[in-house]
Amino acid sequence: MKIRKAVVLAGGRGTRLYPLTLTTNKHLLPLYNKPVIWYVIDTLVNAGIDRIMLVTNPEHVGDFARVLGSGERWKPRNGKGGQIQITYGIQNKPSGIADGLYIAKDYVNGEPCLLYLGDNYIEDDLRPYIKSFKKGATVFLKKVSDPERFGIATADASGNILAIEEKPRNPKSNLAVVGIYLYDETVFEKMLGQKPSARGEYEITYVNEKYRKEGKLRAEMLKKKWFDIGTFDSLADITHYLKKHSRKEKG
Ligand code: DAU
Repeated sequence: MKIRKAVVLAGGRGTRLYPLTLTTNKHLLPLYNKPVIWYVIDTLVNAGIDRIMLVTNPEHVGDFARVLGSGERWKPRNGKGGQIQITYGIQNKPSGIADGLYIAKDYVNGEPCLLYLGDNYIEDDLRPYIKSFKKGATVFLKKVSDPERFGIATADASGNILAIEEKPRNPKSNLAVVGIYLYDETVFEKMLGQKPSARGEYEITYVNEKYRKEGKLRAEMLKKKWFDIGTFDSLADITHYLKKHSRKEKG
């Protein structure tokens, strides 16, 4: 079954960006000329996704609805007409990424889905990966210089993932797991019996490890730019990058 649904997580407290996030949500902050979340929807629509559930906190859901509406500003890429539909889910407490995805269980309704962490900006085209996706789960990897900040994968010489660790103190590699995941219909079963981690969150790394242990986790390397918009520096870096890039486009 083709992936047409995405779940976008745009909750959390954004504490690392205080005081910028005292009155607004991290994903509504500006990146050069658009809010963060706008780039996410562009990426998903370009990838052929036409059904999106955005999960966020009760305080900010109205702000997202004002910015994104029900998706009427975007047009599907399939050339056959139709509509992009954005709906909203509420996460009352930021209890983790797996918890946020679980809120969309009924929306996903037994189909395969794409999970997108709303503070990730990418330039790779996701269409080929979505097209070739059949079973299991796919994660995307990118080399980083600060592996303690991410989910980190170790791989053998043929590229098979041996383990994924969430924010390891002593990282065994510099291959970060990007905040974009493709899951088959078994993803919610993988969460049964899951307990909160030491930091009190239902970690998505737990779910990915379950797929890996079943031999059903595939890894792809992202080839183009990736930013995780979690710090002042990354916010500044991407804004400079987008300013330079859009100037180039204007010639
Ligand atoms: O960006 C990639 C990294 O994202 C991965 O390498 C890590 O494995 C993964 O755990 C995640 O780590 P972060 O520390 O960046 O997660 P963060 O708490 O910043 O949340 C990521 C996004 O998910 C962010 O857009 C907020 C949203 N979120 C997060 C939590 C914990 C929610 O909507 N609800 C939540 O409960």
